[in-house]
Amino acid sequence: METASPTIAAFIFDLDGVLTDTAEYHYRGWKRLADELGIPFDRQRNELLRGIPRRRSLELLLDGHPATESQMQEWMERKNRYYVELIQQMTPADVLPGALDLLEELRQAGIKIGIGSASKNTHSVLDRLHLWDYVEAVSDGYSVQRQKPAPDLFLHCAQQLGIDPSQAIVVEDAASGVEAALAGGFWAMGLGPEERVSAAHIVFPSLEGVHLHDILSALRNTQHATCNWLIRETEFDPERLHHQETVFTIGNGYLGTRGTFEEGYPGARPATLIHGVFDDAPIVHTELANAPDWLPFVLLVNGERFGLDRGEVLDYERTLDLRRGLLTRQVRWRSPAGHTVDICIERFASLADQHLLAIRYQVTPLDFDGWIEFRAGINGHVDNDSWQHWDWVDQGNEISTVWLHSRTRGSGLELGQAAGLLIRGGREVRRQVIDCHNNPTVVAKCRVEQDRTVIAEKLVTIFTSRDLERDIVVDAALNKWEQLFETRSYYEKLRDAHEAAWAKVWAASDVLIEGDDAAQRAVRYNLFQLLIAAPHHDDRVSIPGRTLSGFGYRGHVFWDTDIFMLPFFTFTQPKLARNLLMYRYYTLPGARRKARSNGYEGAQYAWESALTGDETTPRWVPGSTGDLIRIWTGDIQLHISADVAYAVWRYWQVSGDDEFMRDYGAEIILDTAVFWGSRAEYNAERDRYEINDVIGPDENHVHVNNNVFTNRMAQWHLETALETLSWLRREHPGKAAELEEQLDLSPERLAHWANIIGCLYILHDPETGLMEQFEGFFELEDLDWQALEPRRRSIQSLLGIERTNQVQALKQPDVLMLLYLLGDQYDLETKQVNWDYYQPRTDHTYGSSLSPAIHAVLACELDMAELAYEHFMRAALVDLEDVRGNTADGVHGASAGGVWQALVFGFAGLRLTADGYTLNPRLPTHWRRLAFSFQHHGLEVRVDLPGSSLTKRR
Ligand code: BGC
Ligand code: BGC
Repeated sequence: METASPTIAAFIFDLDGVLTDTAEYHYRGWKRLADELGIPFDRQRNELLRGIPRRRSLELLLDGHPATESQMQEWMERKNRYYVELIQQMTPADVLPGALDLLEELRQAGIKIGIGSASKNTHSVLDRLHLWDYVEAVSDGYSVQRQKPAPDLFLHCAQQLGIDPSQAIVVEDAASGVEAALAGGFWAMGLGPEERVSAAHIVFPSLEGVHLHDILSALRNTQHATCNWLIRETEFDPERLHHQETVFTIGNGYLGTRGTFEEGYPGARPATLIHGVFDDAPIVHTELANAPDWLPFVLLVNGERFGLDRGEVLDYERTLDLRRGLLTRQVRWRSPAGHTVDICIERFASLADQHLLAIRYQVTPLDFDGWIEFRAGINGHVDNDSWQHWDWVDQGNEISTVWLHSRTRGSGLELGQAAGLLIRGGREVRRQVIDCHNNPTVVAKCRVEQDRTVIAEKLVTIFTSRDLERDIVVDAALNKWEQLFETRSYYEKLRDAHEAAWAKVWAASDVLIEGDDAAQRAVRYNLFQLLIAAPHHDDRVSIPGRTLSGFGYRGHVFWDTDIFMLPFFTFTQPKLARNLLMYRYYTLPGARRKARSNGYEGAQYAWESALTGDETTPRWVPGSTGDLIRIWTGDIQLHISADVAYAVWRYWQVSGDDEFMRDYGAEIILDTAVFWGSRAEYNAERDRYEINDVIGPDENHVHVNNNVFTNRMAQWHLETALETLSWLRREHPGKAAELEEQLDLSPERLAHWANIIGCLYILHDPETGLMEQFEGFFELEDLDWQALEPRRRSIQSLLGIERTNQVQALKQPDVLMLLYLLGDQYDLETKQVNWDYYQPRTDHTYGSSLSPAIHAVLACELDMAELAYEHFMRAALVDLEDVRGNTADGVHGASAGGVWQALVFGFAGLRLTADGYTLNPRLPTHWRRLAFSFQHHGLEVRVDLPGSSLTKRR
């Protein structure tokens, strides 16, 4: 795709390592000091000091070597003395190759040049190098207080040059400098090895041989690469209204907001779902309550109300920028009376401040002078599929803000929201408040001229009584609004902070694919949806099956989170993974209540879980013909308890977070093991333990006995519990004793566990390697799949619940799921035999969305990369292309997490081993590159395939 270069009006150069090698003189200064102190120091260690302020550099050099404050001072001064002496010897010959040619070229092209260097010797270095002829502005170690990675230094320089950051490119050789440039909204050009400056928009090894046109064309390509961050809709299709509302969901780990339009649309399903804001509901017990809508932003053009269902839409484009977390809509609209306007609306939910939401509206009249009016409100008249959750408590307004105070009807949670409106560019602005009950609205009307753009910014603040005392939720929302106003933190400044927060998140979590734009975009889309759904600052909530993007499954949490989504976080955002696991810890009381009410001991996790951990699966739901259907999952889909333990164990292995394991993880694993110990039944006749009357992962078959997945996972769980306890006894005997007492882990109980481990019935034929999904599965009727094609429904909905239970048709992997989770315990032959049996008997197209990604991983292992790719894309596109026809109910979070697993465990073949990890890449033939990072015991590991594969850094 051909895209124009961005306009670049200025270059801001870092000095050290960019225009000259003072890095070399710094090294020699530090080296001399280190030698004198007798501390080992070489060029490799010096790498850690690049772009780092003096004091921190010294600390790194000392590396724990004891020092008093006055010694530190003296050493810093000494090093600086050596350095200043050394740079006196500099001459123009010390300008790095290529730099002078580029500076000359920039000067001739009329591009401004600035220097942004943290060094306090910047001026004297510029003197020695004779560079003053080129330079128009210098910002150095004396110019600002906050050093890189804060953007202040570059912003200072841009201001002196009189240039907007978006029109300037910063040239840097250090990671912290690149981060500073990005945080300031600059273009960033990195010099040096890719792993050091990879966050920059473009990277060159050095300035040698680099001309202006190389830089501009690299920027153009980057913009092409930018397209791989964009989800675009170029035509509005009312038929796909609800699907696209889900697709364009934004969020910030605190709340999610569906992509409904600010001005509304007939039949729209607006929803903002806030983590933990549950309210009572019939049938489903409790559900996330759709919060009062913060989006309403109505535009009147000479008195005519803008909407896509009226007038004429001449141009339309909606874009979700995944990298920056921005949703934008550009519309050219002609009103029924013939007034044409260009409209650009952008919104975000701040990742830098979770209580902050923002919308910017830009309107340009194209063929008239006249009046336009904005109405920005908070709408409390909302529902969940017509079920009302909110009571109005109070509302009010101040000059440019309105506020609304609401309370959920059953759970009594309180919500405070404040919204304000700022106008720029209009004349004769008239303000007013419409204090409509439960829908307070600020109005601003202004005079506009043809071709002049008016900007309206709506900033919304939001707090709940889960964050604060209930009676101050409104005060908090208003205070925050005032703070923004007082510190003049308006839209652009807030957006910069938001984007910088995203840059950080992506630096750890992005996966790069070259050679397949569709896959690249889809992957990022899935990761984006996971990242906005994970609670960032709350460890008492978790990610619902359909994230925070729709009403499907009512905000309930399933094994989808622990098994499908969690690995992405465990490996790339361990803090968020920990939050998700802490949720399981805090809901142990609910799991204990469930075990007790079923007559068992220990903790039995709910199949569907909400705030307390009590079971929230509906027992009866109305079927399509009005009859009632009994849902058994909440009663007998037991494997969830082993899944949670599995997630805890894996997190511990990958992160090495011993403290979590000691204080929380162990208790989860042990008390759920207590449950299994009381649940397994002894069959005296056959002298074995059994687990009967369950549902395995394949929900097409209910009330089955000895499901291999359940039994084998329970067995693994009991083994792991014993291992956990011996680790605890060894490393933390106090904690071990405490849990032994609290959970009654008597020697008899542990012996009982060992017994079950030894005699639990596992349907695995040692001769053939084949496993039978449950007792009697092989006797069920085989289905003629071809005869049912083409179909657009699941096997279960075609054949009915009863008959599906009687045939060998799987909704999702079950035996194969086991072979995936406990993959290191089974050989390839076993995997192949079971794949050959079960793969053709699974409903891949309309069964569970959890299925395709897992098949993709196994297909890679069995060396079928092309088949793996087919399964992979089915998972990756499930929501973007509404592959299953139910995206309107929300994003399929488990599938999104599965997509990451398919990339990392499937195509890259990453496996953890006892002493590290291995890769076994099997890329689809058209992929040129697959690169990503992960964290292992606090170290970041970068994988770049094919070719040089692993680099570790601290
Ligand atoms: C699947 C379950 C899954 C649930 C929520 C069901 O259709 O069979 O495995 O946990 O959806 O996504
Ligand atoms: C899912 C179950 C779930 C039930 C009730 C079914 O569609 O497959 O996993 O428990 O809905 O929410």
